[in-house]
Amino acid sequence: MKTYPDLDININFRTGEIVGGGCLELARTLAEIRHIYKDSVELGGLEPTTPVYKTWAPPEPDEPALLYGTTLLLPGTVGDEYFMTRGHYHIKPGSGEFTVTLSGHGAAILMDKDRNTWWVEMKPGVATSVDGAIAHRAANIGDEPLVFLTCWMSDCGHDYDIIARMGFSQRLLKVGGNPTLV
Ligand SMILES: [Fe+2]
Repeated sequence: MKTYPDLDININFRTGEIVGGGCLELARTLAEIRHIYKDSVELGGLEPTTPVYKTWAPPEPDEPALLYGTTLLLPGTVGDEYFMTRGHYHIKPGSGEFTVTLSGHGAAILMDKDRNTWWVEMKPGVATSVDGAIAHRAANIGDEPLVFLTCWMSDCGHDYDIIARMGFSQRLLKVGGNPTLV
């Protein structure tokens, strides 16, 4: 029985691209994730077709397996709000994930079930881990693309819906040039 995905892969630390392993590339534009931003209507004057992030990951396996994937999150802001990923909880609270930053400068924005929000810095070589009960999203707080590698169990389940409806309790904004939770 094959338990783990094909690891005959090559990861580009600058672009996030994974070659091999049957990895699939998925791109997100502002139009697809506009609901997560404070300025979801005007988008800070940006075109809805503006690219925000790309991910690479292998297809979902038939049996539960340890999975991996990369994310390339471009630099930029929607008004004063950093480009960020959608964010989610895991449906299995005990099934978390591990992330290591490969390049760039970012923030892991985290929120517990009591809606306490905080963030931790992401920079090359720094690892973060969360359990599934902590909502998590990444923001690019630098001037270059942020690239990170994440590992998780394929059967952890992803709850994007509650974040889409309720958001995080605070937003990470660029205030006086510095990332600030507001
Ligand atoms: Fe996750």
